[in-house]
Amino acid sequence: MCGIVGYIGNRRAYDILIQGLHRLEYRGYDSSGVAMISETGELNIYKSKGKVEALERYAVDKDLGGNIGIAHTRWATHGEPNDINAHPHYSQSGRIALVHNGTIENYSVLKEALIQQGYKFVSQTDTEVAVQLIEYIMTTNNCSLFDAVKEAAKRIVGAYAIAVVDRENPGQIIAARQSSPLVIGVGEGEYFLASDATPIIEYTNKVVYLNDGEIAVINRDEELKVYHINGADQSKIEITELQMSIEQLEKGGYPHFMLKEIFEQPRTLADCISGRITADGKSIVLAGVTDHKERFLNAGRIIIVACGTSWHAALIGKHLFEDFCRIPVAVEYASEFRYSNPVVTDKDVLIALSQSGETADTLAALELAKSKGAFVFGICNVIGSSIPRATHSGCYIHVGPEIGVASTKAFTGQVTVLAMMALLIGQMKGTVDAETLETVANDIRRVPTLIKEIFKLNDKIEDLAKIFTYAHNFLYLGRGYNFPSALEGALKLKEISYIHAEGYPAAEMKHGTIALIDNDMPSVVIAIKDHVYDKTVNNIQQVKARGGKVVAIVTEGDTVVKEMADYVIEVPQISECLTPLLTAIPLQLLAYYIAVNKGRNVDQPRNLAKSVTVE
Ligand code: M6R
Repeated sequence: MCGIVGYIGNRRAYDILIQGLHRLEYRGYDSSGVAMISETGELNIYKSKGKVEALERYAVDKDLGGNIGIAHTRWATHGEPNDINAHPHYSQSGRIALVHNGTIENYSVLKEALIQQGYKFVSQTDTEVAVQLIEYIMTTNNCSLFDAVKEAAKRIVGAYAIAVVDRENPGQIIAARQSSPLVIGVGEGEYFLASDATPIIEYTNKVVYLNDGEIAVINRDEELKVYHINGADQSKIEITELQMSIEQLEKGGYPHFMLKEIFEQPRTLADCISGRITADGKSIVLAGVTDHKERFLNAGRIIIVACGTSWHAALIGKHLFEDFCRIPVAVEYASEFRYSNPVVTDKDVLIALSQSGETADTLAALELAKSKGAFVFGICNVIGSSIPRATHSGCYIHVGPEIGVASTKAFTGQVTVLAMMALLIGQMKGTVDAETLETVANDIRRVPTLIKEIFKLNDKIEDLAKIFTYAHNFLYLGRGYNFPSALEGALKLKEISYIHAEGYPAAEMKHGTIALIDNDMPSVVIAIKDHVYDKTVNNIQQVKARGGKVVAIVTEGDTVVKEMADYVIEVPQISECLTPLLTAIPLQLLAYYIAVNKGRNVDQPRNLAKSVTVE
């Protein structure tokens, strides 16, 4: 949930660390800090509550020299966001500094034992235990930093990616990983370290992804070495070439990443589809599925585990797989699934759906299913992230880096991949006929163009947002394929505008929620022309009869809903199963403009972080 950066080479480390922290700020922005070893051998640590720019202001007149350093941007778990709890943390003697992403579950036991040994703690964090433990082991065993980290790693229970520097050895960074991501960039005579590749890409495209249980020894002017915590053998170092470009990480003239990412969707979906539908529109090409054809053909059930927006996409996936493949589908919150006692067998296919590929709950849920014999399949965006590396097979959504904390283009990418998978499996099973496949596949190809059409309504949606900026509550209603869209629309509004919003199945509303409806409670109703259109029209009548205001998302040319709704947004006609790809766009824009009107920090909403790598 936090972001880590590290550098060792010949440049001024501070500049690289700060730039890297800006790139990783989406992972947490409660506080940030840097530690550099200066040319004169000082270990200088500067930390500040708040965003990276607060740290820059604080550090402006300090000694920023040195070409080795580590840095951190925090999403608080243990201890409130303040300067003291900010990372890097340093050991009692002030010799060692450490940054950490993850949570140390047995920190109170370790802390108590260290206090017994005379160690004093200054912060409320779990992380400080790690740095004190490393120093304790180094002193009592009279060993190297590497040996001390290795030993500490064996005693720590929990998730961690750590980077450690020792003032007495200014030519070395030690890094270790267990269940939290860590990437090492290999440059010419320099190394970079980060929680993901975004801080690295502008310097080198050669990276090494650390695996769980590995420790990297990064020495200046020496070859990178990676060891397993439980043995002295060097792991095989696999250098991966990144495909990402630096332009993908910039705002490209938009005021916010979220707006840029909404407007990128025609292109990102074209990338997502590219090469996956044959030119004649008659077949789907997804090697991750066909290479394991038998597992899908024999699947007694598909379980999809996910969180947040990905969970909403998973609900759409359930409709798709059940409609096209006639395979029963269970959609589970990963955080619930992992602590339930799920019945999973080797006949099950478990799909882990995650933009980041790092969500701790989703990763744990897939590991649980794998241990019970299920075939596990990942649908992720971030290439080389933990989930794709833990699955038997998978499929990337290929929508490029998503930086805004509110997920937009990943959602449409996920739904698109799920639709293509459902068609392919349906074709393999014989549960989808050739004509339906061709119609839906061709409609998938039309989606980028149709989204461009919807963008013509941008100004109208911006105006609509002005009308509703000061509402305190919203209801989002939808049915069938668009009930998950209602949930997603409500989540978008909540997370970036801080307005309470509830997503609900339109017909279920009459069993209680309808009591909330009055003139002050706007309802956003997705009422496109699907097989339950008439029913949804009834639901709109029920809202109007109670004096509620209705914003309706309708199919182009609709005249019925236009008569009864207060405001109408039209989206083009498309196969019913693909309508969530179109209805998502006005819902994303509406949430965005309301949040902007309220002066919210759209890209970094309070209390949130982009990838949730803690429980
Ligand atoms: O990276 P993931 O897709 O696994 O992330 C899951 C959720 O944390 C994520 O979708 C979150 O709900 C977003 N803030 C939604 O916009």
